[in-house]
Amino acid sequence: MKLRGYSVALLMVCSLAPLAIAQSGQSNLNASPTNEQYVPRLGDIMIAVQTRHIKLWFAGKAQNWDLAAYELRQLKAGLLEAALLYEGIPVSNVTTMTKPVQSISDAIDAKDGKRFAKAVGELTDGCNSCHQTMQRGFVVIQTPTAGPFGDRSFAPSKKP
Ligand code: HEC
Repeated sequence: MKLRGYSVALLMVCSLAPLAIAQSGQSNLNASPTNEQYVPRLGDIMIAVQTRHIKLWFAGKAQNWDLAAYELRQLKAGLLEAALLYEGIPVSNVTTMTKPVQSISDAIDAKDGKRFAKAVGELTDGCNSCHQTMQRGFVVIQTPTAGPFGDRSFAPSKKP
């Protein structure tokens, strides 16, 4: 029972922590959870990475390079978080992602849609290589076709 009490307390801490971060305002936007706060499950980090992979693609397709750069940063942070929090992930599988991430970043800087598409393809291959080596070969990532985010506009916004 002691254990259960602990678990409930942990659950409460877990569910309240994001609220605290949300309430403490803008300056904490870069805050990342520490181990004491909340350790996201690897599969959940991956779902976030998948979301960024999709948004990155549609941002680039819409030539919204600011948004593409932002989604790439988020994607990178997700992969880094996975590697830091989960020691079982082979480091080499993460480091091989740096090359396609850099190529995407270069394509974004150059506002080059063709290079961007090629580099996202390489990134996607990297996702799948890691899944294969980690007995998750059944998780197959491809270039997004239809996006699930019907409420999101990927077009560049008119700057105020
Ligand atoms: C370094 C290794 C590694 C890399 C790189 C990697 N993944 Fe994963 N991914 C995993 C592992 C391990 C799992 C299984 C997690 C689990 O079973 O809890 C996983 C699971 C997933 C899942 C399944 C989650 C679910 O519940 O549906 C998705 C989606 C996913 N990854 C997307 C991606 C995408 C997109 C990329 C590339 C941008 C990527 N992953 C790159 C290791 C990796």
